[in-house]
Amino acid sequence: MAADEISRDRRPSQIAAYFSRLSDTYGDGVYYGNRRKAVLEAIAPEFAAARELLDVGCGNGAYLTKFIAAPGSRRVTGVDLTFEMLLSARNRVGGPCRWIRANVAQLPFKPESFDFIFASHVIQFIGDVEGVVAEFVRCLQTGGVLIATGQRDDGVRQMLNAIVGEERWREYREVIFRRAARREADARPKDRYQNAFIKAGLRVEERAAPFTVTWADIDEWIRIRWMPLLPEAERDRANAMLADLAKQGVPQTLTQHEPLIIGRRDS
Ligand SMILES: C[S@@+](CC[C@H](N)C(=O)[O-])C[C@H]1O[C@@H](n2cnc3c(N)ncnc32)[C@H](O)[C@@H]1O
Repeated sequence: MAADEISRDRRPSQIAAYFSRLSDTYGDGVYYGNRRKAVLEAIAPEFAAARELLDVGCGNGAYLTKFIAAPGSRRVTGVDLTFEMLLSARNRVGGPCRWIRANVAQLPFKPESFDFIFASHVIQFIGDVEGVVAEFVRCLQTGGVLIATGQRDDGVRQMLNAIVGEERWREYREVIFRRAARREADARPKDRYQNAFIKAGLRVEERAAPFTVTWADIDEWIRIRWMPLLPEAERDRANAMLADLAKQGVPQTLTQHEPLIIGRRDS
């Protein structure tokens, strides 16, 4: 395993230590901004009906800021494991919000407390996906909705793989994304999520949120999301790889799709 790789078999304390280093910057930049905008558009009908909203693994509040600023009246709660993320969220989010530091696997809420639970890029850090989805559903009212994003790798990495070829991609991936080879062979996360939703009694719908980015946006995303985690000694190498990628004929504009799973609790 690459030294800084974070995966669902890590302990909560390791996950919190990992994300504490990203608490001031996670979600910044054009790539994340465009992705978020696309997700918010895609979930607008469900969001409009939300009155008790829970953002699980809310990070530094990128989505919560939007949820709170949106017109309408709703109570908003953010839960995260990482203290520094919550601190950063509290500084960023303007309006009223309840902040709770907790592991999403054991939510400190009564059954049926929320009608809208949002989980953006958090389930991938959970070992027991079925258990955590069941915990979300315990907190969901009848008629409520659970929305999760991030159930598979985005297309950027696939695109880069296709451009540089399998062998060089393996090296690039391990240096830039701290991604060990065995994680690429991970069992199909999309199916794992869907099965957990269905097992928890949810009616499932898939929806994609399309957004457009340029290579400059992706380069910026890599510098914001991945570079801060690289050991000092690896940074020059990673920079050289990025420069090399830019020369390899990356498409200047790309359409990405953020995959969403929408689960409705009918009874
Ligand atoms: C990739 S970030 C996503 C942040 C935010 N949802 C967003 O999309 O902008 C993942 C967040 O999930 C949190 N997290 C990971 N595992 C968690 C757990 N078991 N319980 C609570 N939070 C967790 C991390 O601390 C981090 O803030």
